[in-house]
Amino acid sequence: MPDYILAIDQGTTSSRAIIFDRTGNIVSTGQKEHEQILPRPGWVEHDPMEIWKNVQEVIGIALSRADLTRHHLSGIGITNQRETTVVWDRTTGEPVYNAIVWQDTRTQPIVDRLAKDHGTDRFKSIVGLPLATYFAGTKIAWILENVDGVRERADSGALLFGTTDTWVLWNLTGGSHGGVHVTDVTNASRTLFMDLDTLEWRDDILEEFGVPRSMMPEIRSSSEIYGHAKDSSLLRETPIAGILGDQQAATFGQAAFDAGESKNTYGTGNFVIFQTGEEKVLSSDGLLTTIGYKLGDEPVTYALEGSIAVTGSLIQWLRDQLGIIRSAPEVETLAASVDDNGGVYLVPAFSGLFAPYWRPDARGAIVGLTRFANKGHIARAALEAVAFQTRDVLDAVGSDTSLDLGELRVDGGMVQNDTLMQFQADLLGVPVVRPVITETTALGAAYAAGLATGFWSDLDELRANWREDERWEPSMDSKEVNRLMRQWRKAVTKSMDWVDDDV
Ligand SMILES: Nc1ncnc2c1ncn2[C@@H]1O[C@H](COP(=O)(O)OP(=O)(O)OP(=O)(O)O)[C@@H](O)[C@H]1O
Ligand SMILES: [Mg+2]
Repeated sequence: MPDYILAIDQGTTSSRAIIFDRTGNIVSTGQKEHEQILPRPGWVEHDPMEIWKNVQEVIGIALSRADLTRHHLSGIGITNQRETTVVWDRTTGEPVYNAIVWQDTRTQPIVDRLAKDHGTDRFKSIVGLPLATYFAGTKIAWILENVDGVRERADSGALLFGTTDTWVLWNLTGGSHGGVHVTDVTNASRTLFMDLDTLEWRDDILEEFGVPRSMMPEIRSSSEIYGHAKDSSLLRETPIAGILGDQQAATFGQAAFDAGESKNTYGTGNFVIFQTGEEKVLSSDGLLTTIGYKLGDEPVTYALEGSIAVTGSLIQWLRDQLGIIRSAPEVETLAASVDDNGGVYLVPAFSGLFAPYWRPDARGAIVGLTRFANKGHIARAALEAVAFQTRDVLDAVGSDTSLDLGELRVDGGMVQNDTLMQFQADLLGVPVVRPVITETTALGAAYAAGLATGFWSDLDELRANWREDERWEPSMDSKEVNRLMRQWRKAVTKSMDWVDDDV
């Protein structure tokens, strides 16, 4: 019996391959960043060919660093940046356009057109989502309407759509020579096209968007054998046996399986997922209803999600666009150079505001500036913005579910930041807890694959793998918390109503 599982984590900023052992420990990692293509304000693209090349490279790196081959692997799991959309030709394997990334806001006119006379909640009771640029369906429609010749090719059945799980799986299993065209329920639940009850594509909604059904991948569970790696690859004949969108994967990797369990991932954006079990809860407070996971033939589980578009990418912006830090961890040193935020608040509405506000007309704002403010205050305001946004989302979870959060399990790149984690615990008034393995996204995909191949036997075995590393207890006076939240919410109102016909 092989001793390892390999997870492919195709993220927004990088692709990783991580090999895990049976206890959920990391044996080795390969990682490569890909280019963020920013052709115009609000547009964000990736090159699908670069992504596929990087995925192959990182698999090779992870295997060779651990001195392992495919014979040591029980299976492969895939997790991915979610709504990012690729359309390609089924015969040549060539993408017809760059991947349009989830943060991209170019599809607002399509959203407005579909929402006209109906409102943005038009399909919400069926798909769990409001109409928003975030979701894949609007991006497919944009490619069909704007790229030369694509409409005809799609109508003739020549083109395929996939989020990057599907793109990687199709290529890994042979591409134009027998590649498997499949996605899992969690990724399908981010398109605006999947009925949350039947787990099938809705022909009526596809038609409203003008998307031919022949482009759509088959929807399968999150844990089953979809196919085997093609003969020419390093992974030849290894089963690909798990797919989960990155946020659902992180939740799974945190062993938050049951109704009432949750996690918050601090990556490019922040994503709170709150499991609601077999009950589908529709939010009245700006949360999304989404799929938690589905293991083979077992019943599907649902979740509520609070998606925040800009958190870790705000730190990247301080580094790359403002140049006030040289590396992400340096933000902590710079923030520590001042006693407090000096009255400065930064609302990073770069892609409008996601949960719980859903305001496409918002844009980034720095408010409360005086002659006193310096770059230390900006750094501090940036870190605080991450925690303020998370508190807003958890308040919405509280009012949708009337459940008290006992503690918050966290993961992602930013949870190495002690200042942020302490401030987060202070704002929430509950402990913030970090596990030993913070690569929970890849771990969750590995778990899904290992359950399907029999590498792990059940969820209890996975629960036993979870171990606490660090815990931050709240210590701020509640009057101060209330003052900060009041100021923050005022700052949020200043970011709204910015985009109009002139902007
Ligand atoms: N010490 C730190 N303090 C603050 N932010 C940090 C720190 N270290 C990393 N980050 C931020 O964390 C983010 C990286 O987190 P993570 O690795 O979880 O994201 P990711 O998984 O690569 O994202 P994606 O999956 O979207 O590609 C970056 O945006 C970076 O700016
Ligand atoms: Mg990630």
